Amino acid sequence: MFQSDLLQGQNILITGGGTGLGRAMAERFGGLGAGVGILGRRPEPLEETAGAISGAGGRAAWASADVRDPAKIAAAVDQMEGELGPFTGLVNNAAGNFLAPSEDLSPNAFDAVVQIVLYGTYHATMDLGRRWIERGGGGQILSIVTTYAWMGSSFVLPSACAKAGVLAMTRSLAVEWATYGIRSNAIAPGPFPTEGAFSRLAAAGFENEAKKMNPLGRFGEESELADLAAFLFSPMATYVNGECVVIDGGEWLKVGQEFSKYTDIPRDEMKAMMRAMKPKKG
Ligand code: HXC
Ligand code: NAP
Repeated sequence: MFQSDLLQGQNILITGGGTGLGRAMAERFGGLGAGVGILGRRPEPLEETAGAISGAGGRAAWASADVRDPAKIAAAVDQMEGELGPFTGLVNNAAGNFLAPSEDLSPNAFDAVVQIVLYGTYHATMDLGRRWIERGGGGQILSIVTTYAWMGSSFVLPSACAKAGVLAMTRSLAVEWATYGIRSNAIAPGPFPTEGAFSRLAAAGFENEAKKMNPLGRFGEESELADLAAFLFSPMATYVNGECVVIDGGEWLKVGQEFSKYTDIPRDEMKAMMRAMKPKKG
């Protein structure tokens, strides 16, 4: 649907780019002409994803690093910039999460998720942001949050706190770093059935209930998110700054709306019910 050279001239680093939504974005960006750098802890998925991008004719580099360690991020960026040239974009996608009652969390459990999501995003953002400020050519940051960054959510307290922080970082830097030509945006996905997320968050019986909560009655497809991210990195979106684009089929609105449950009743039945409630004239 996009022109095949849409992202030509860009080099984009994607943290957690070896799996799930990160991989989907990496493959889409690579197919649209961008050089793609992917970073994560496990070498296997990174090597495989970079191989898939190169095999399809794209440019890819990978490096193993933990986003909780700024020195490791710097070394990984040095290595990948040596292969691809300077990065022009960053996707903060790496995350850690699990379901747990908040009162049962150990301090280390809270810390593990917040370190990956909030501090990891901070470290990667500062590493590339400082390079861009020094080089003077601008840059673009896209952070993957979720709708509970502003709604909050039961049973994922560390992730909710961390994603809220990432959204605050996005909006803060959108203003502070605009003077350097650096834009900062976010995407807030609803449920996308990746192995990483659903193995940790989808308890038995969750799928049907979750689909019922969604106005479109389904989960997202990875290609839908990859297309949105490609658009935000494209020359069509250069005035978008400080924005958080929701891609959830309208789920967070349905969950919050007082009368949205009526949309679950077959429409003819619902109309008959509402007609019966209408006062008769005379
Ligand atoms: C309670 C848990 C736990 C669980 C780990 N811990 N899993 N506590 N319930 N299910 C505790 C451990 O006991 C330990 O505390 C502490 O957390 C650190 O655990 P480690 O295993 O040492 O951490 P680490 O190896 O750093 O792994 C980080 C991780 C892991 C977050 C725990 O799940 C991970 O690597 N995840 C990466 C991928 C991921 O999560 N993908 C999903 C993203 S989906 P103690 O006190 O015992 O030392 C997503 C969707 C959002 O974000 C929106 C959906 C709509
Ligand atoms: P995923 O496949 O588990 O992706 C997480 C990635 O982050 C993995 O590649 C993982 O690789 C990497 N990672 C985790 N900890 C890291 C660390 N310390 N250092 C470096 N890399 C690390 O899950 P996903 O569903 O694609 O999630 C991608 C993003 O979308 C996340 O930000 C998530 O919060 C967001 N999101 C997902 C959904 C959904 O329904 N899927 C909904 C809303 C938001 P390693 O383990 O090898 O390091």
